[in-house]
Amino acid sequence: MKIIQLQLYVLICCRAAVSDQLTDFGSNVTINCDLDENEVYWILLKTPDPPTVILRSFSKPKSPFYHNSTFRKKYSVQFKHRLVINNVTADELGVYYCMNTGTPLKLSNSTRLHFTGEFIYFSIDQNILMISVNNYIC
Ligand SMILES: *[C@@H]1O[C@H](CO)[C@@H](O)[C@H](O)[C@H]1NC(C)=O
Ligand SMILES: *[C@@H]1O[C@H](CO)[C@@H](O)[C@H](O)[C@H]1NC(C)=O
Ligand SMILES: *[C@@H]1O[C@H](CO)[C@@H](O)[C@H](O)[C@H]1NC(C)=O
Ligand SMILES: *[C@@H]1O[C@H](CO)[C@@H](O)[C@H](O)[C@H]1NC(C)=O
Repeated sequence: MKIIQLQLYVLICCRAAVSDQLTDFGSNVTINCDLDENEVYWILLKTPDPPTVILRSFSKPKSPFYHNSTFRKKYSVQFKHRLVINNVTADELGVYYCMNTGTPLKLSNSTRLHFTGEFIYFSIDQNILMISVNNYIC
């Protein structure tokens, strides 16, 4: 498990393409997986924590395997491994990746989810530092 996490860090740090997705508190969000795979993991990175595996998505009709049952009420999967987040709160903000389940590891481009106008992100050496600015005026 440690080895996989280390590999993940390396892969994540080498990624350049990050797209931003803005949302509002309480919205439902859909994030695409740009890998052409039968099975993928969905991973959430909230720096400075290690990456969290949310679920394993299979080709239809099998329902996803949740790595923590508390994710079940928040996350679901649609066609082509699209991740759906219901009723977004600050807990679900971060950088999302899908990853294949075989070797060699393949990571999708990442999607950085944040609230409209509430957070400012700085990208330093492709590592992401999130700073909350509560009284930021646009
Ligand atoms: C989000 O999805 C849930 C379940 O599908 C639905 O009941 C709810 O109305 C949706 N909320 C919004 C803001 O679209
Ligand atoms: C599952 O998630 C909850 C809430 O984030 C956390 O308190 C709990 O420790 C997690 N369980 C496992 C097995 O990781
Ligand atoms: C969405 O989450 C908020 C905060 O956790 C909660 O108060 C609200 O009832 C939830 N809404 C739905 C439709 O689940
Ligand atoms: C990731 O983004 C780059 C640049 O936008 C693009 O060239 C590449 O095809 C994307 N990778 C995948 C797996 O879609």
